[in-house]
Amino acid sequence: MIMRSTPSNEILIAADLGTQKMAVAVAEMAGDGSLTLLGVGEGVSAGMRKAEVTDFGHARAAARMALADAERRTQAEVSELYLTMSGTHLASRNESVRVATSPDDEHRVTEGTLEELQQLAAHLPLPRDHAILHELLRGYSLDRGVASPNPLGTHTEQIEAHYHLVTGKRTRLQTGVQCVSDQKIRVKGCTFSSYASGLAVLTEEGKQRGAVVIDLGAGVTDVSVWRDGAVVHSCVHGVGGDHLSQDLSIGLEIPYARAEKVKRELGTVTLAAEEQDEKITLSREISFDGRTFYKEAMVQVLQARMAEILEIVRDDIEAQGLWSAVEGEVVVTGGGARMRGLARLASEILPRPVRIGRARDFLGEQGDLERPELAAVLGTLRYAAEHEMKEAGRPQGLKKLSQSIGRMLSAMRFLA
Ligand SMILES: Nc1ncnc2c1ncn2[C@@H]1O[C@H](COP(=O)(O)OP(=O)(O)OP(=O)(O)O)[C@@H](O)[C@H]1O
Ligand SMILES: [Mg+2]
Repeated sequence: MIMRSTPSNEILIAADLGTQKMAVAVAEMAGDGSLTLLGVGEGVSAGMRKAEVTDFGHARAAARMALADAERRTQAEVSELYLTMSGTHLASRNESVRVATSPDDEHRVTEGTLEELQQLAAHLPLPRDHAILHELLRGYSLDRGVASPNPLGTHTEQIEAHYHLVTGKRTRLQTGVQCVSDQKIRVKGCTFSSYASGLAVLTEEGKQRGAVVIDLGAGVTDVSVWRDGAVVHSCVHGVGGDHLSQDLSIGLEIPYARAEKVKRELGTVTLAAEEQDEKITLSREISFDGRTFYKEAMVQVLQARMAEILEIVRDDIEAQGLWSAVEGEVVVTGGGARMRGLARLASEILPRPVRIGRARDFLGEQGDLERPELAAVLGTLRYAAEHEMKEAGRPQGLKKLSQSIGRMLSAMRFLA
């Protein structure tokens, strides 16, 4: 069997260490940046709480299992990967940086000017214990505030670049990275999970018109708001599908793992009229006394918690004054998006149309694209492809610069 390896940049690998599952996606990138999904390795998580590592040994062992599963399924040999990150320690803010162009060059905006702006953004002051995960470009302004999406070659005395920064606690990010890296495996870059999910499920038009991506995980709910093709707000709420299972466990007086099973198999957050009087009898392997209850009672429990999560998301976007920027839709990803009736409930609570996310534009294995819980890891592959293409297109000198102090690895400044 031929083992494929990553350093050629043809094989890209992304890992997502979630609260409930660990996923490792492998794709082949063609010269034009298009991706063919070769397969996804998976494993049950351990040592994670609210998307953060709480038991390093267990989390590392679980990550190894998912990595080995990916290698087995795709015959890829993992030596470099991109990692998806989340956790309530993440924070975001919008910042602008400015430089004057040189009169010697007739005030022309060059690659060097844009690189300088990016370096300024990458080195903006942060809280002492934070590191930058992303500085995402939102656009440029030239003299007198004239907006320019692509200012290269224009003449202006000053240029301002607008960035969306996502930062996280250095030590927490470091722990995540170290869960997968060793002498053999190097983490090449990291993504914020909801940004990654957006890369997987949104169209270019959707990103322009304004969209909200809600990644409903087990421990956390990650949100990114997009407008004019860029992310304008990112947030991690410490609530997720685990809470629904916990509530059901208490309500039905059954252990958590069984409540999780009932939720997945029978759960719904909206009740159809014909289900009003429907009763559910739990099998004896779920509940010792084979309990019977009205479906409506279960729906009330699940609906109350799901509505609470959606209201938290809605109110945060409201507090940021961003709903008016969202002319498009809300897209829900993460395993929580599988909850029956979710799109309907979310459409009642959120002020925009809601759909469940499906990853787009991958060749190869199509079945995995339908799985909303894989959106973040698949979007991280998309990010990896963009990053690799950018690196390949850079002039040699800049490439060197970017490798030593540039974004992805210096996004990993905390590794130094
Ligand atoms: N069919 C289903 N119906 C309802 N909920 C589901 C279903 N399938 C999965 N879930 C829920 O989705 C959540 C897991 O989603 P996901 O795999 O995206 O989480 P994760 O990435 O491991 O966690 P996090 O992002 O919080 O770290 C769990 O709460 C699980 O119960
Ligand atoms: Mg997740």
